[in-house]
Amino acid sequence: RTYEIATIPGDGIGVDVTVEACKVLDAAASRHGFALRWTEFDYSCERYSETGAMMPGDGVATLSAFDAILLGAVGFPGVPDHVSLWGLLIPLRRAFSQYVNLRPVRLLPGTTSVLAGREADELEMVIVRENSEGEYSTLGGRHNEGQPGEFALQESVFTRVGVERIIRYAFELARTRSRRVCSATKSNGIIHTMPFWDEIFESVSADYPDVAAEQCHIDALAARMVQQPDRLDVVVASNLFGDILSDLAAAVTGGLGMAPSGNINPERTRPSMFEAVHGSAPDIAGQGIANPVAQILASAMMLEHLGETEAARSVDAAVEKVLTEGRVATPDLGGRATTEQLGSAVADAV
Ligand code: NAI
Ligand code: MG
Repeated sequence: RTYEIATIPGDGIGVDVTVEACKVLDAAASRHGFALRWTEFDYSCERYSETGAMMPGDGVATLSAFDAILLGAVGFPGVPDHVSLWGLLIPLRRAFSQYVNLRPVRLLPGTTSVLAGREADELEMVIVRENSEGEYSTLGGRHNEGQPGEFALQESVFTRVGVERIIRYAFELARTRSRRVCSATKSNGIIHTMPFWDEIFESVSADYPDVAAEQCHIDALAARMVQQPDRLDVVVASNLFGDILSDLAAAVTGGLGMAPSGNINPERTRPSMFEAVHGSAPDIAGQGIANPVAQILASAMMLEHLGETEAARSVDAAVEKVLTEGRVATPDLGGRATTEQLGSAVADAV
């Protein structure tokens, strides 16, 4: 069969790594007997500079016809980050009800953790980030500008439906893994939304007596992720906390160049969207040296979501093989290979 995939390479290294992911997936598709039809969209900061919008008015409607979306990254100097994020990524996540942001990390063979001495199996976890509400909200504003009493207000929105479904997702996921869930909270400092989150976590956990449930303040959890990562497996967190924890989790495993992510619509009523955890990295954009592994692993998550599990495994295995051999590595992995060379090595391994 043929899957219809929308690609949005976006900005900076998003463009470089997406080309490589498509190349690897084409190799996997031809080996496993299906096809991927790619349709590329130029939604990006460049488009914003030319037209005043990250995507056209019918962008959501157009994308909704696809089986899945592969996104590079958006954001580039000259366009404020809140414009690029709120002009594309956040509207798509919300329009397509991609309320789970799934961010698995593990220490891949052939790479070393910044946490010296840690074994690979101690460094395997998944951040389940709430992806549709929470702290990322437009409610609030600036007041008394220019006056001594100037202030800014930013409101968070936590709905019972929204919190319950993400926590339930985490418990279901834990049943397929270690049967341990840790919830990120901060109910000592944030006195309305976080106690609400904690209460719902406790009530959902009662439905999963076979899963060990634990709550941890976000600050202590950050320290634990560095000092005792083996004590964590499934970590469920609000939009902001999950965003921060996933960069941290990536950093303690193989770095941002290795961490994939899926914006998942679990009911499969709308397309899900796959991307690396990292951004457009303007500091290395245009040099051809970005690590494409994160985007390749994200595209393997896309195959898995489409039901092509064997093809997804073959992509993961190809990444592991190339990293284990270690001959083709980008600068962040201590090598001298280009993005294109590492992508081609993985495609060949597939
Ligand atoms: P970033 O993730 O783009 O970069 C952080 C650091 O990690 C940089 O030093 C970069 O060179 C390095 N890095 C990231 N990915 C790498 C890779 N594949 N290979 C090698 N090194 C890599 O985060 P930053 O700098 O905070 O944001 C840059 C832009 O990206 C901003 O405009 C931001 O808003 C946007 N952004 C977009 C995201 C998205 O589209 N999902 C997510 C995060 C940031
Ligand atoms: Mg982030």
